[in-house]
Amino acid sequence: YGDPNQKIDYVFKVVLIGDSAVGKSQILARFARNDFSLDSKATIGVEFQTRTLVIEHKSVKAQIWDTAGQERYRAVTSAYYRGAVGAMLVYDISRRQSFDHIPRWLEELRSHADKNIVIILIGNKSDLEDQRAVPTEDAKEFAEKEGLFFLETSALQATNVETAFMTVLTEIF
Ligand code: GTP
Ligand code: MG
Repeated sequence: YGDPNQKIDYVFKVVLIGDSAVGKSQILARFARNDFSLDSKATIGVEFQTRTLVIEHKSVKAQIWDTAGQERYRAVTSAYYRGAVGAMLVYDISRRQSFDHIPRWLEELRSHADKNIVIILIGNKSDLEDQRAVPTEDAKEFAEKEGLFFLETSALQATNVETAFMTVLTEIF
């Protein structure tokens, strides 16, 4: 996961947003450390982790910011979005409400972030297919209407997490 002495060509800030418990922190743990925990605690304030990757022969340091989905634990909104060039808007495919709240998150994102920010909609917990409450088609349709990338992921099974980050980072690039 990266040589610490490597020279860095670019630093890209990417923010994670979405309701509490959709799996934002575990998506980040999977991407940054190839780690996952089932007893993940709710995030309080802001945390970030980095991972350096090579994209088109340049070294890119991805600085991924993670905050609380719960209103009372959230970071100062304007500071959180400042300088972000990518955003991951996450819901849980087994919890309809987390998808129904996506328009609100998108509105907050669009009112605080740079207008050129690259956004991906992520339906996490794709391993919970037997509890699915959000059809893939509904999310795909919403993403197309809003001009967002879209993928379903599983932080638990490490499905599509890497692809989701690469989609955003490559597009920023
Ligand atoms: P806040 O910090 O409160 O905003 O929540 P969060 O979105 O960061 O959620 P977190 O990553 O802490 O995950 C919440 C719960 O969902 C934990 O029990 C995780 O283990 C679980 N979880 C996360 N990703 C997955 C997944 O892909 N599949 C399954 N089955 N569970 C997951
Ligand atoms: Mg969290």
